[in-house]
Amino acid sequence: MGAKSGRVETRPYYSEKSLSARFYDLTTAADTSLAGDIDLYAALAPAGGSVLELGSGTGRVSFALAARGIEVLGVDLAPAMLAQAEAKLRATRPDLAARLRFQRGDMASLNLGERFDAVIAPYFALGHLPCGAAWRNVFTGVARHLKPSGRAAFHLPSAEMLGQPLPATRGPALVRPLEGDRRLVVNITDRSSKPQIGRYDQIVEYVVEGPRGVEASSLDHMTFYAADPLPFAEAAGLLADGIAALGPNPVHLFRKPAD
Ligand SMILES: C[S@@+](CC[C@H](N)C(=O)[O-])C[C@H]1O[C@@H](n2cnc3c(N)ncnc32)[C@H](O)[C@@H]1O
Repeated sequence: MGAKSGRVETRPYYSEKSLSARFYDLTTAADTSLAGDIDLYAALAPAGGSVLELGSGTGRVSFALAARGIEVLGVDLAPAMLAQAEAKLRATRPDLAARLRFQRGDMASLNLGERFDAVIAPYFALGHLPCGAAWRNVFTGVARHLKPSGRAAFHLPSAEMLGQPLPATRGPALVRPLEGDRRLVVNITDRSSKPQIGRYDQIVEYVVEGPRGVEASSLDHMTFYAADPLPFAEAAGLLADGIAALGPNPVHLFRKPAD
């Protein structure tokens, strides 16, 4: 159920019929802060190795890793995102499809009965969960699903970036052309933060404009949590393995000890 914001109902991000889910691939393709992320994740698994992707969404990363010969299991909580990944899977070449699996699951309560060379949570996936018990459960699960010496990577938003106030006068965050002389306009309409608990919220408006005016619109509510994951990883028995950077945001790297 959405919440009322003024007269317009907001939807949770990535929910059924949410325009954030429908246009995820289009908006992400324009996101320069992700440049280089596929190379980073591919380097964590050996040739022909296996990766578990937490919060795999529409399969942006999973498909790219499979194209490099890696076996990928993608897990995501949102049916609307999984539906897009499954649709792409049905349309992809058989040799690539054979290396890809997607399933519904909560990264905070995974027990898949298999182990992987690497576990990754690209593009702020962990940041959707409150920092605390949920992160502790995620890292316990990561340790359980990694092979000895396996690697893990968590791309998180920086608190500095999330905490920036919206400028008083601003244009759209993104405008992308659509088929049939239409366009998608994305606006950030509200932003708030509670830095003491590492919580950052924003309302994102998606508008599809056609030649005769607005064809569809939605207000999607996104919540992110930003914190240092090291204490949670160490409590699960993982070792720090450095911090890479993607644009202004960190990718925290960990390693499971050898047996
Ligand atoms: C920003 S998207 C990232 C998608 C993909 N990893 C990428 O890099 O393009 C974050 C994803 O995390 C998923 N997600 C949020 N909470 C989750 C949870 N508790 N367990 C599994 N997936 C979750 C969302 O449904 C969404 O698809």
